[in-house]
Amino acid sequence: MSSAPDFDPLSPAMLEDPYPVYADLQEKHPVFWHEKVGAWVVTRYDDCREVLRNSELFVRDPRRVSEVSAESGESIQGLDVNAQSELRRLVTGSIHDQDLEEIGRRVRASIDRIFEGVLARPSFDWMIEVSARLSGMITADFLGVTEPDPQVFKTIVEGMARKFDADLSEPDPEAEQRVRDAFGGLIDGWLSSPETHGTMLTLKNRAAEMGVPVGVIKNLIGLLFIGSFGTIFASSGSLAHLFIQRPDVFEKLRDPALLGTGVEEFLRFDGPTQATSRMAKQETRVSGVTIKQGDPVFVVLAAANRDPRQFPRPHELVLDRAPNRHLGFGWGPHSCLGSLFGQLALRELTRAVHDAPGPLRLAGTPFRLPTTTVRSFASLPVSFQPES
Ligand code: HEM
Repeated sequence: MSSAPDFDPLSPAMLEDPYPVYADLQEKHPVFWHEKVGAWVVTRYDDCREVLRNSELFVRDPRRVSEVSAESGESIQGLDVNAQSELRRLVTGSIHDQDLEEIGRRVRASIDRIFEGVLARPSFDWMIEVSARLSGMITADFLGVTEPDPQVFKTIVEGMARKFDADLSEPDPEAEQRVRDAFGGLIDGWLSSPETHGTMLTLKNRAAEMGVPVGVIKNLIGLLFIGSFGTIFASSGSLAHLFIQRPDVFEKLRDPALLGTGVEEFLRFDGPTQATSRMAKQETRVSGVTIKQGDPVFVVLAAANRDPRQFPRPHELVLDRAPNRHLGFGWGPHSCLGSLFGQLALRELTRAVHDAPGPLRLAGTPFRLPTTTVRSFASLPVSFQPES
């Protein structure tokens, strides 16, 4: 069994910059068992992509993705493959039915409203004032539900991030129950609300026609919510930080021809979903290492996205990179259902920061969320005003 005892996924150095460690693991320990993670850690691009692609051999661990509400009982992962892909088609269909240009205009209007309140302030926390509010507003818009309190959103998402890091963070059963209750209440409210429209309404109606159990629908809504809110919260913070650290990149993104590929490249380079997990359904080998039936596998997407075997100049931001088959949105049967929305949100955010009257600058010390699977700032003090 290959081991890498020095790998501490929650060390301050890893939270700051995990990429040199990932590169080292890729070379020396491409697949190894990690006691604290409680899983086989896989870092090379081809291996990660194969684990994600081969859903017959590597199944999603239901313990990590269900339980979003007290009544859920069943999750989309528990359905047979046909029913699961039918539900996925339902969601993608209802997303594709939406007018993305119109959604883009609404997203931009939401950002402008948020910016109005912060542009003149000597400093503000981007994660609270912009990321949490923006991801709340646009997740509600994408899903077609009323917008809940941003603080409730943030509590749920931070709780979920800890849950996805389950084997790494200290357990806190009471906090977990609070998050589950808050989340269950939110979803029940949306399901019963007459104001529900867009994606959520289509989903609700079509799922009822298909006879999909209510627990499954709640889980699916939970997945959509977490998928959207958590990633937009995290990536909008990392993108703002990148703009501050790399004014050259920020300036280049003014070119409309680079904006789309540039956002895609940012998600390869420093995406919010650093890792995901699967479970081996039967004994198999990955990069020559035997993985036993039932063993969990920790797929480090962020490491794969910097694999020099797949990406030339992996540690550079190549804004017009093509092809760019990154795993920032996953791959295969469980790949992201909302990637169009996610990219749209980040493009509109970039445009809005370009149009702001002053450059964005750091106004304090940023702090990261102490989580491995989600890479995000917890606090990012910034200002659009010159330093006084
Ligand atoms: C920049 C934004 C986003 C990023 C980087 C991202 C990333 C990802 C990744 C890596 C996965 C695969 C997880 C796995 O294989 O275990 C995923 C799945 C998913 N994402 Fe996203 N996501 C983003 C935005 C969104 C949005 C806006 C939505 C909803 C509107 C969404 C909904 C989902 C759902 C429902 C899944 C689970 C699909 C399934 O299990 O079949 N995501 N996302």
